[in-house]
Amino acid sequence: MTARPRRSALYMPASNAKAIAKARTLPCDVVILDLEDAVAPEMKDAARAQALAALGEGGFGDREVVVRANALSTPWGADDLAALGGTGADAVLAPKIDGAGDIAACVTALGGTTPLWVMIETARSVLRLEEIASAPGVAGFVMGTNDLAKEIGMRPGGDRLPFLGFIANAVAAAHAYGLVALDGVYNAIDDADGLARECAQAVTFGFDGKTLIHPSQIDACNRAFSPGADEIAWAKAVKAAFDDPANRDKGAIRLDGRMVERLHLEQALRVLTMAPPD
Ligand code: COA
Ligand code: MG
Repeated sequence: MTARPRRSALYMPASNAKAIAKARTLPCDVVILDLEDAVAPEMKDAARAQALAALGEGGFGDREVVVRANALSTPWGADDLAALGGTGADAVLAPKIDGAGDIAACVTALGGTTPLWVMIETARSVLRLEEIASAPGVAGFVMGTNDLAKEIGMRPGGDRLPFLGFIANAVAAAHAYGLVALDGVYNAIDDADGLARECAQAVTFGFDGKTLIHPSQIDACNRAFSPGADEIAWAKAVKAAFDDPANRDKGAIRLDGRMVERLHLEQALRVLTMAPPD
C-alpha cells in the first residue's frame, strides 16, 4: 500500500446516516463504514444500502473509505461482498478471518481488485498471522481486540498485557508483507488519559494508526501517530548528514554523539513523508 497517513480510522455503523454525514467533516484519515458488529440484524440490509449510497455520493475528501462487511458465515456476508466489489471503496474489511481459506473465499466473493483489510480477532487468526498476511489480496491488518479477548477468554487490564505477544506478532506479520497495521479500539469513550496511554503504546508497537469509535478520540490519536518536533528535527538532521557529499561513501556516521546508519535514513525519510508541510 502507498505510504500515506492512516493515523486515525473511525468506525461508524453504516445504519447511522448522521454519523456518516459527520464523518465527511472530521479530521480522521480513514472512515470505516461498519455493516458488522455495530449494526443490528434487522438493519443489515438498510446499512448496506446506505454504505453503497455514501460511496456513490463521495464527499469524503482525502479520507480513505473502508467498508467492514459481515463474515461469509453469516446470512449477509455474501451479499455484502458481492455488492462492495468495484464500488470505489478504498478497501473492504473482512471480519472473523481464521486463515488463508477464508481470505480466498472473500477475494472470490468480492471479485475485482478492491484491497482486503482483515480483522485479526479470532483465536485461530493469531496462530496464522503469516499465512493471512501473505494471502493474495490482503492489504491491511486491523486488530479486533474486543473479539480476541472474548474468544481467548482474556481479561486484559489497562496495560493490555495479555494482548502484547499477539499484537507484536501481528504488526511484524503485517509489515513483513507491506500491509497497513491498525490497532484495536479503546472502548472507554470518556477516558481521555487512558486513550492517550493506549495510543502511545500503539505507537511503540509500530502500528500505523488506531481504530476509533467516537469523534472525540480523533485528535489525540492523530497527535500520537504524527511525528513530533524532536523526531522531525532528527529526521532532517539524518537526511542532511547523508546528503552531505563527504558522507557519500559511508554506511555509518556519527551524528550528535550517536551512530546512524542508512537504515536510519530510510526511517528518517518515512518520518518526513508523514510530517506536516513546513
Ligand atoms: N462516527 C461519526 N460520528 C459519530 C460517531 C462515530 N463513530 N459516534 C458519535 N458520533 C456523532 C454523533 O452522531 C453525534 O453527532 P451530533 O453532535 O451531530 O449529534 C456526536 O458525534 C456525539 O455523539 P454522542 O452522543 O457522544 O455518541 P452516542 O452516545 O450517541 O454514541 C456510540 C456512542 C458508541 C454508540 C457511538 O459513538 C458509535 O456508534 N460508535 C461507533 C461504534 C462502531 O462502529 N463499532 C464498531 C467497531 S468496534
Ligand atoms: Mg469484531
